[in-house]
Amino acid sequence: HPSLSVSRAALLPPPGGPGDAAGQALLVESRPFTSYGSALHITLPQAPRAGQLLTLLIDYEAGEGPGVCWLSPEQTAGKQKPYMYTQGQAVLNRSFFPCFDTPSAKFTYSATVKVPEGFTAVMSATSWEKQKDNTYVFKMSQPIPSYLIALVVGDIVSADVGPRSRVWAEPCLIEAAKKEYDGVIEEFLVVGEKLFGPYVWGRYDILFMPPSFPFGGMENPCLTFVTPCLLAGDRSLVDVIIHEISHSWFGNLVTNATWGEFWLNEGFTMYAQRRISTEVYGLPYTCLEAATGRALLRQHMDATGEDHPLNKLRVVIEPGFFLFLGVNPDDTYNETPYEKGYCFVSYLAHLVGNQSKFDAFLQAYVNRFKFQSITADDTLEFFLEYFPELKEKGVDSIPGFEFDRWLNTPGWPPYLPDLSPGQQLMRPADELAELWAADGLNMEAIEAVDITGWRTYQLVYFLDQVLQKSPLPEGNVKRLSKMYPKISKAQNAELRLRWCQIVLKNNLEAEYSKVKDFLHSQGKQKYTLPLYRAMWGGSEATRALAMETFSATAPQLHVNVQNYVKKILGLGGAE
Ligand code: BES
Ligand code: ZN
Repeated sequence: HPSLSVSRAALLPPPGGPGDAAGQALLVESRPFTSYGSALHITLPQAPRAGQLLTLLIDYEAGEGPGVCWLSPEQTAGKQKPYMYTQGQAVLNRSFFPCFDTPSAKFTYSATVKVPEGFTAVMSATSWEKQKDNTYVFKMSQPIPSYLIALVVGDIVSADVGPRSRVWAEPCLIEAAKKEYDGVIEEFLVVGEKLFGPYVWGRYDILFMPPSFPFGGMENPCLTFVTPCLLAGDRSLVDVIIHEISHSWFGNLVTNATWGEFWLNEGFTMYAQRRISTEVYGLPYTCLEAATGRALLRQHMDATGEDHPLNKLRVVIEPGFFLFLGVNPDDTYNETPYEKGYCFVSYLAHLVGNQSKFDAFLQAYVNRFKFQSITADDTLEFFLEYFPELKEKGVDSIPGFEFDRWLNTPGWPPYLPDLSPGQQLMRPADELAELWAADGLNMEAIEAVDITGWRTYQLVYFLDQVLQKSPLPEGNVKRLSKMYPKISKAQNAELRLRWCQIVLKNNLEAEYSKVKDFLHSQGKQKYTLPLYRAMWGGSEATRALAMETFSATAPQLHVNVQNYVKKILGLGGAE
């Protein structure tokens, strides 16, 4: 990556053998490859023999790159000290250290990190030790792909929340962090192990990131990074934690060999997440959560067009014939690999027709491919081998549901899992949304519905229905806002996102400040981009709001998110 400068490369003598310990300096060149990185060429003194082990030493310096984020004190929760974090996925760690930055290569790592007084370093590592002079030594003893190496240095402290789990956060957030997840993590791990096999990573810790962290969660092994938006006070957003825990098997153990098959990581993880959720919270609640996921897929496909090439599970990622022409893997992050991927895995389960048999398959799949990087062909071939009777029946080529079609045809999933067990939770929300969308409001019927006991995801589902029916008849949203302060004044980020979307779609100018406040409070990509899209697609007033908000918040957004917003606002930026 252009932000990384390599100053020297050397070939080290074989361990124990003769030769200069500093190594023999080698010719190093950077050659064009893609818009998001170049190839590092190192010339060896002679061609190595097949199987020969070489030790290369590369001196380099990492600066301000997309994978290495340097935050000022104002950009932290405590506003006292600076903070730095790395975010590798998908292809950003090449700006952190020189590496084979592809998920097809796995390796162990170790790192020695020296930090200034008053700071703590943590990494995605199986063991760590603090030595003198604020120096930390980390080791990851299991082979992982480059994108899972992660480092944070900041004013952070920890608190135990389970036998193999603690939370990390800035001191001002640690109480809230502990309260949010104390005593709940272990159960998810235990259920995960029961379903998918041993948890191989030792610890499972959670680090609450500064507000500008662009994701809900990032499955860095041993140490998941999460947005502080999860601190809802009521554990209502714990599905994100279950999701990241599920990556311990799908993604971190069995890894997509190329970013073109990102759905192998995320689709299987969504399926695993919902399996754990079903065991812990039951089927109705899990179906409700899955229905909100389906609504996101609907919104995404409506926004991009079903036929968009990124709405295939298998995406073509090539460096391009010319520089800048290829698809950047980081630009393929959308709902399709998650929710269409989930549908495909659910379809495989449906073909099997028996949950425990499919669970056993998943466990065998993890066991077969653990510590490897694979393609969808490997997955599907293993599936057909595991269920020879299905192979016999030719389930891979049932007209309309061909595996090939699932992978290579854009558009809405040909099969949707049955979410009707969630009806008991969804129906009241559907009916209430219907009432609010009516021309003359039937206040008697509306007042008869008591939403005080509704779970967060029931409210989310309700708001998605309202959004889908928006704009509502004049005056309805204003009344809705007054009637349900629990929604319109919510602190919960998932509710705030939906409420802001409703405010914008209905031109509720009186509440535009809420959109601004929400965008000032955090920088998660999945919250930020939909709101800018809505503002930009709206009135002159919402466009002005977008510009004003962006100029105030841009410096605190992750550089990739900044670029995507710029693109939405027609300010240049990303591709
Ligand atoms: N691995 C992803 C986050 C990611 C994807 C980072 C692509 C960079 C590139 C993580 O596991 C994830 O999916 N997070 C979701 C959680 C949700 C689906 C519960 C998120 O951030 O919203
Ligand atoms: Zn994920």
